[in-house]
Amino acid sequence: VKVLRSPWLTQGPAIAEFEQAVAGKVGCPHAVAVCNATAALHLSCLALGLGKGERLWTSPISFVASANCGLYCGAEVDFVDIDPHTYNLSPIALEEKLKRAARRNRLPKIVVAVHLAGQSCAMKRIFELSQEFGFRVIEDAAHAIGGSYRDQPIGTCKYSDATVFSFHPVKIITTGEGGMITVKQRRIADKLRLLRSHGITRDPVRLSVHQPESWYYEQQELGFNYRLTDLQAALGYSQLGRIEQFLAKRRRIARRYNEALHDLDLVLPFQDPQTQSAWHLYLIRLPERGKTSRRNRVIKELHRREIMANVHYIPIHTQPFYQNLGFRARDFPEAEQYFREVISLPMFYTLSRSEQQFIVQSLREILA
Ligand SMILES: Cc1ncc(COP(=O)(O)O)c(C=O)c1O
Repeated sequence: VKVLRSPWLTQGPAIAEFEQAVAGKVGCPHAVAVCNATAALHLSCLALGLGKGERLWTSPISFVASANCGLYCGAEVDFVDIDPHTYNLSPIALEEKLKRAARRNRLPKIVVAVHLAGQSCAMKRIFELSQEFGFRVIEDAAHAIGGSYRDQPIGTCKYSDATVFSFHPVKIITTGEGGMITVKQRRIADKLRLLRSHGITRDPVRLSVHQPESWYYEQQELGFNYRLTDLQAALGYSQLGRIEQFLAKRRRIARRYNEALHDLDLVLPFQDPQTQSAWHLYLIRLPERGKTSRRNRVIKELHRREIMANVHYIPIHTQPFYQNLGFRARDFPEAEQYFREVISLPMFYTLSRSEQQFIVQSLREILA
């Protein structure tokens, strides 16, 4: 309400307040707010120098934005198969693919490491490989604000060049639509700020003229209108103040599922002991028995009881658009096996204990 009554509905002081609050929360020197995480990924790629003819690699098990950002920059996109336990990009598959790519002089410029469901990728190993093979790393932490890795909050960028967060309504905290990029280097943060607002600056130290008029500005790059509004930033600031409460509830829901489902014929979400998930999603797998997939039948039964189970995600390379780019089903077998078996159970802040009991009981009956 204060922002609504203020002279600034956008491009005002609430943006910097929200940015500083996120930077402080995740322990990174710079945070740059943008209109959504897709824009955050796009700008991160540009600020790290991704261009035509270069390559971006990511996980096939993600939302399409994790890959599309490379195509926006004119780069080629390719995928790295997932780890069968964490469902994140596999560092072993990454290493093998990098060795092959090095021999053919086709190394990636950027690897986007997606923290699926809120659990961090094996960032230390990915960082070591980035040093050995000379690529940049973006953490796609759209699911993961509030999570941690090796006792540090996700977003410090200790093992990456940039971390991207989403504030879409289904995420841990929300601004309606919104995103944030955290980076260690001021130079990259400045570039991101320039690109999010048309490539235009009024900063006297950046202008090409000395002692400019008060109304003067320059467009120095080809940027976009990717700004967050002050209304959204104020909402984000308020949401961030409640994040621990949101996370505690998600952890509690996950714990209850773990306890209530452990004796069923399904795979519970594996948690790497070096990570603490933000629990954006609760993913179970129903292993295929022979050739028959139980996944669709179970989801149908859950939906019949108005339990909105879902699938995260259809492997990106199997989407018609990516098939048209030349990808084939069976290119990434772990990802495809995962897809045939996975179900996201309801996981959100207002899920009540009795609703969760109903979900568990329903699943028991359906599987029996
Ligand atoms: C892993 C991942 N990356 C990026 C995005 C894009 O986020 P946004 O909707 O804020 O653009 C999403 C959205 O769901 C996502 O799940």
